[in-house]
Amino acid sequence: MAEEKEKRKELEEENVKDELENIPGVGEKLAEQLRECGYNDLMAVAVTPSGQLADDTGIGEATIRKIIAAARSQLKMAFTDAAELLDRRKSVKRITTGSKELDKLIGGGVETQSITETFGEFGTGKTQIGLQLVVNVQLPPEKGGLDSYAAFIDTENTFRPKRVQQIAKAVGLDEKEALKRIKVARAYSSDHQILLAEKIPDLITKEEVPIKLLVIDSLMGLLRAEYIGRGTLAARQQKLNKYLHVLQRLSDRYNLAIYVTNQVMSRPDVFFGDPTKAIGGHILGHAATYRIYLRKSKGSKRIARLIDSPCLPEGEAIFAITEKGIEDA
Ligand code: GTP
Ligand code: MG
Repeated sequence: MAEEKEKRKELEEENVKDELENIPGVGEKLAEQLRECGYNDLMAVAVTPSGQLADDTGIGEATIRKIIAAARSQLKMAFTDAAELLDRRKSVKRITTGSKELDKLIGGGVETQSITETFGEFGTGKTQIGLQLVVNVQLPPEKGGLDSYAAFIDTENTFRPKRVQQIAKAVGLDEKEALKRIKVARAYSSDHQILLAEKIPDLITKEEVPIKLLVIDSLMGLLRAEYIGRGTLAARQQKLNKYLHVLQRLSDRYNLAIYVTNQVMSRPDVFFGDPTKAIGGHILGHAATYRIYLRKSKGSKRIARLIDSPCLPEGEAIFAITEKGIEDA
């Protein structure tokens, strides 16, 4: 317990160090101006091209250049040595999906320090997997959980407490208690959605909720609704990148598993440019990413296919959605 408290304190201190006011030359007013435009911490300022930052905030480019330089020298923008990376990887934990076959496909379950994405047509089980995971994360380790809490950002009004209770009962958890261990928030716009994700650190450090899993259902729904038409694609992509950056930092810093859902139109491979590149090739990219394409099979059966995984072979798994939740077919 004492160790946990120590860790929380450490994380809180790190967050304070990240605040924009720590940039020499940035006072409260400039900091506020930056935050209003979605630049919330040192790293966001340090890694954004000066032209873009000036355009977005309306702050003069000369000032922007100075701020960026100051942010960069403030941050230790150094390389992490490989031994440290290996150490971090050792703290990676996994949450069972409820299906052994599906777990096997993704290397043993949904991973912390990673973003796991499912995409597929309606009714393929994207939401159901999310509801199962917010229950399973509560299980003790020997049953495939992390003995922790979950957060659920709901953009499509798909969170169903009744269904969660049903799933919790099936894995032997107290139904009421299980619901209490899930923090749910409804997001009404893409900005709101980002804001909610940014609140997670407070939940963990200030309110001391031991969250180990964040579910976002769905990642792109609101963005897609707000940015319609070809001309808005670049702006949408930019916002998505920013969002992914926030998520990646969360998963990294708090050893969180992040599970996001994504609907597809007709061509999953080209649906939003090449999102795996944006995620995997990101400047902060320690976090691994798993993409799972789901499709329907007979009745309750679903087929999952792993796509573009950094270290696992591509393959398929069959699972079922039943009364009890996600199970082996
Ligand atoms: P969209 O959000 O519409 O894109 O779909 P999705 O991929 O999120 O689908 P979802 O996870 O909601 O899966 C819906 C399917 O799960 C249904 O078609 C049912 O087959 C199954 N399902 C959902 N709830 C139950 C339930 O209570 N009992 C059983 N047996 N199956 C359920
Ligand atoms: Mg859904």
